[in-house]
Order: sequence, then C-alpha cells, then structure tokens
Amino acid sequence: MEKEKMIAAAAMAREKAYAPYSGFKVGAAVLTKNGNLYTGCNIENASYGETVCAERVAIFKAVSEEDPHIEVLAVYSSSDIPAAPCGACRQVLIEFSSDTEIIMANTAGEVRIASIKELFPLAFNREYLEGGKNIG
Ligand code: THU
Repeated sequence: MEKEKMIAAAAMAREKAYAPYSGFKVGAAVLTKNGNLYTGCNIENASYGETVCAERVAIFKAVSEEDPHIEVLAVYSSSDIPAAPCGACRQVLIEFSSDTEIIMANTAGEVRIASIKELFPLAFNREYLEGGKNIG
C-alpha cells in the first residue's frame, strides 16, 4: 500500500481521537503482513495515566485479530515536526515486529520515515528471556 493511503487512514482515525485533556489528537494506521489495515486514535482518561496512544490502539486491534506482524505503521498528528511513536509504543511494536517501517506525518503535510530498528536500537525483546540469544 502506498505511503499516502497509510497517511490518509491515520488522518481519518485521528478524527475519532478522544483527547479532551491534552487537546493533542493523534491517529495511527498499521498495515500487516497479511495486507490488512487497522487504525487507532489516542484515548485519554480523567485518570491521566490510563491514556492509551493511537499507535497502541491500532497495534492491539491487529494483534487481537491474530494478525500481529506489522509491516508499516503510520502516525498522524498536528505537531510542528511529525511526531514519532513514544517509547511505550515502540516497546509494544517490537514485541510483534522487528522490521516495521514507520511513517510520521503532520497536518502541515510533512512526512518523516524511519525503521523501528532506527527508532529503537537495542530493544529488550523475547530473545533476552529465551536464552539471551540476542545479547551482545
Ligand atoms: N500520543 C499518541 O497517541 N501517540 C504518540 O505518539 C504521542 C502521544 C497521545 C497521548 C496523549 O493522549 C496525547 O498524545 C498527548 O501526549
């Protein structure tokens, strides 16, 4: 799927953001290895710490459909520099996919692209728990 379609899907998802506290609306879209698209928006809470980012909502929708391998993740927000996924979302993403392309876009039409490996080097993953194969 083209980059523009992923960005458009994330932008549409952003319309559904529930962000009454921060006012910062975020949308995300993930494309899985099976060719399916799942979207998410940030969902805030009066107990601020229970807020969930748009990226995790989209990732969890894919995983809960037993479709966890994410090839592309697009995130769309209004920040001046297109926002990158937060650390918690990177940790959740790497659990399922170590080769994801991440498209970051903003309402001004700017786009940045990076791989999850670039955004999250030396990630802690299952291999550390299953014999330390990846430690080095
Ligand atoms: N947020 C996301 O949804 N994704 C990000 O990548 C960064 C932050 C949300 C969480 C919160 O609802 C709001 O943006 C402000 O932090």
